[in-house]
Amino acid sequence: MNGLKLLGTGYALPTRVLDNDAMTAYVETSDEWITTRTGIRQRHFCGEGESTTTLAIEAARKALDDSGLDKSEIGCVIVATSSGEYVMPSTACLVHKALALREDIPVFDLGAACAGFLYAVDAARAMLLAHGSRAALVIGAEQMSQLLDMADRNTCVLFGDAAGAAVFALDEDAEYAYVCGTRGDMAIQVGGPRRTLPMTMEGQNVFRFAVSTIPSTVDELLEKTGKTLDEVDWVICHQANQRIIDASVRRLGVPAEKFYKNLDRYANTSAASIPLALAEMKESGKLTSGQRVILVGFGGGLTWAGVMLRV
Ligand code: ACO
Repeated sequence: MNGLKLLGTGYALPTRVLDNDAMTAYVETSDEWITTRTGIRQRHFCGEGESTTTLAIEAARKALDDSGLDKSEIGCVIVATSSGEYVMPSTACLVHKALALREDIPVFDLGAACAGFLYAVDAARAMLLAHGSRAALVIGAEQMSQLLDMADRNTCVLFGDAAGAAVFALDEDAEYAYVCGTRGDMAIQVGGPRRTLPMTMEGQNVFRFAVSTIPSTVDELLEKTGKTLDEVDWVICHQANQRIIDASVRRLGVPAEKFYKNLDRYANTSAASIPLALAEMKESGKLTSGQRVILVGFGGGLTWAGVMLRV
């Protein structure tokens, strides 16, 4: 069925770590408020010499090493990001240069906010099919800290910087299902034009959107594939808020352990959160070859997407 097989993963985090107490230097808030409303305990912010570019390159290099492929086998590079360092070149081009990849391949950035990584996975599959290539490097990389107004407590405590990367190979026998959606009339989370304005967000509307979108996306994937949640090993959602994940678990009526969570350590890293989770789970041995996973992303736009595959 021309699905995708996950061959390798990698992630990168900035060295500067800010716990919730550190956020009280910027806004009137508390560890207690942030922890109980979101589950977030700390986040990484880029410091000197760190950016979306450096994180993307580090994560990509690790994913390529982990895949065991030669770099000449990479037939496409897509970086999902809303916080690229430059308008041009794209972050993907900077990764292409750093890894000295082949010339004759499509390399570009993709913007779909926190759903971006999953949009990029499906776009990469389409590219591989169209060009007859074997494998794609798909990255989610964000320096969300540069989009934040550090005087706005409604947003600045929620986000963090990171990158995650994955190498996927086209495989005739591999499972793959994809669903996605867009509501362009619902701009309830808005980033300013290229760093001139900070991000703003209607938190409660985003919350309502997220807690209905995760279960409906999971249901849509199950219906499409004829599988049940018992046949799925992991559900890995975009890591925005502990309460969003808890509410989705309740609506779906599944054991909470099936939902991976790491947002306490990284906060919301937008397009990076799903590949970061994949890479961390693979590194720790939680995610093992042959397991079936559902990935669910949702974000500004509004955008959402879901993927089911075996890793
Ligand atoms: N510290 C202390 N108080 C705060 C903070 C803070 N950091 N932020 C807001 N408050 C205050 C508000 O000002 C408000 O005070 P008021 O009642 O005096 O006006 C009070 O806390 C309650 O605010 P609410 O907005 O009602 O708080 P809520 O329980 O809804 O939680 C939150 C807010 C955490 C933003 C929640 O709505 C949420 O998680 N929404 C989803 C946001 C999200 O995940 N966005 C990203 C997903 S999509 C993507 O990633 C692109």
